[in-house]
Amino acid sequence: MLEVKNLAKSYQKDKPALTDISFKVDSGKFVAIIGPSGAGKTTILRSLNQLIKDDDGQILLDGEDIRAANKAELRKLRRQIGMIFQNYNLVERLTVIENVLHGRLGYKSTISGMIGRYTEEEKREALELLDKVGLSEFALQRCSELSGGQKQRVGIARALIQHPKVILCDEPIASLDPASAQNVMKLLKDLTVEFNIICIANLHQIGLAKEHADQIIGIRKGQMVYNDVSENLSEDAIADLYGTAAVKELVE
Ligand SMILES: Nc1ncnc2c1ncn2[C@@H]1O[C@H](COP(=O)(O)OP(=O)(O)OP(=O)(O)O)[C@@H](O)[C@H]1O
Ligand SMILES: [Mg+2]
Repeated sequence: MLEVKNLAKSYQKDKPALTDISFKVDSGKFVAIIGPSGAGKTTILRSLNQLIKDDDGQILLDGEDIRAANKAELRKLRRQIGMIFQNYNLVERLTVIENVLHGRLGYKSTISGMIGRYTEEEKREALELLDKVGLSEFALQRCSELSGGQKQRVGIARALIQHPKVILCDEPIASLDPASAQNVMKLLKDLTVEFNIICIANLHQIGLAKEHADQIIGIRKGQMVYNDVSENLSEDAIADLYGTAAVKELVE
């Protein structure tokens, strides 16, 4: 279970980016974080894996406080947190399977990681994961030759080979066409259940968030104004988050 308690962050003095954010997520659940641009969604994800130092609060992953971790502990904890990015962050000139195997680097000493020494077991698992994301026949193709949707599926396989407890996705479908976006959302939801992990995705597509996520967290001006199962996300709640005029456009 992931439990966030009273998380707070200011990038600049007296200008809070996050104020008193608290929520819990159980394993096997897919959570969407929604809210207007600048609300603090990326700041939450970056705090969750400690890419930025937040100012206050607790982040408990299965009871262990990520914020209290020393450097060695943080390295271990980061293996348990996979990341998926809007721009995929793949090494385009390398093959699909090499990119998936990069997800194992957190488990390697620097030297063996650098010279790309992977075990047969890791390679077998990479192929299995590529099969799960529907890309087995692309294993030896360069990532530069893939579509956006395919690249994001490589990103998902790369996150899963880390054996994460949590996957954090910052706008995973923002660069995709509607069909690929739907496909990636369904895949994230299905794999979250299959691997019994926690998936947290920042999204601007409210319709897709409602359709696929179990839980929705709404952030406005650094504050959590909504936290409930996705079925309960009403037009009023959306209007509260984004303003009334935006409702019609956003729910369609
Ligand atoms: N590195 C930074 N230095 C200073 N201020 C920052 C930094 N990163 C973000 N902010 C500020 O913190 C607030 C929250 O930003 P954040 O990127 O978390 O928003 P967001 O909800 O992810 O927005 P978007 O939907 O546009 O991605 C904004 O006011 C932003 O300007
Ligand atoms: Mg953002």
